Amino acid sequence: MLVVQELSKTFGGLTALSGIDFQVEQGSITGIIGPNGAGKTTMFNLISGTFLPTSGSIRFKGRDITRIKSDKVCRIGMSRTYQNARPFEALSVLQNVLIGISYGRKDRPNIKRAESEAMDILRFLDLERHAPVLADQLSPLNKKRLELARALGTQPELLLLDEIAAGLIPSETLEMMEVIKQIRSRGTTILMIEHIMKAVMDLSDRVIVLNYGVKIAEGKPQEVSSNPKVIEAYLGEEVEEKGEETP
Ligand SMILES: Nc1ncnc2c1ncn2[C@@H]1O[C@H](COP(=O)(O)OP(=O)(O)O)[C@@H](O)[C@H]1O
Ligand SMILES: [Mg+2]
Repeated sequence: MLVVQELSKTFGGLTALSGIDFQVEQGSITGIIGPNGAGKTTMFNLISGTFLPTSGSIRFKGRDITRIKSDKVCRIGMSRTYQNARPFEALSVLQNVLIGISYGRKDRPNIKRAESEAMDILRFLDLERHAPVLADQLSPLNKKRLELARALGTQPELLLLDEIAAGLIPSETLEMMEVIKQIRSRGTTILMIEHIMKAVMDLSDRVIVLNYGVKIAEGKPQEVSSNPKVIEAYLGEEVEEKGEETP
């Protein structure tokens, strides 16, 4: 579904990503982890067509999308959520989802049909009763759900989730994980950046680990979590402390 080759991005003198290669299989959930500043969000900005890469290529469904802009990438079947929720704050929850449905895909259903689809999505995400509320008025959890609702409105084949569970309490995180599983079981491929380890490890078929703009590991969740490079990048201090206690 997605093939990323030798992808690099520099901002002035700063190398945010360097020579990244990976693939995402259709129907899978792929997790991306890595410390803050590792380049995860930058990778989403490149894949979704928000930024142009400095070098490298991105193929989506066999098509070269390296230089295709985000609105077009969305219409060919890729949608994303933002790490910091970005609703249209002056519009209602329902209108936010309608924008995804009306402008984010190739077909443009009539308004009646679009509203009925939007209400189905809001129901699925337990946002139905907030449909007429201004997006600005939502709780943090509901703003996250709205991010997802708007993205789902575009009917993505590939959905990019940037820390969709960040800032949620554990019970809300579990609920969000359940929703992600259901989205996948409906046939959507998922690429998710996530800090909450349990969520990534439980959900992902494969995990990619970034550190300082470089891919340092990739594999099944268990393989990655026992990889010494990953342990060092993530848990270095903790491992050292434990090491001292070992006789
Ligand atoms: N638009 C930008 N302009 C300049 N530097 C950026 C920009 N976006 C990200 N960076 C830098 O790139 C690096 C990677 O950032 P980011 O991709 O947001 O990391 P992550 O999502 O893994 O925490 C950071 O050093 C960040 O400051
Ligand atoms: Mg980020």
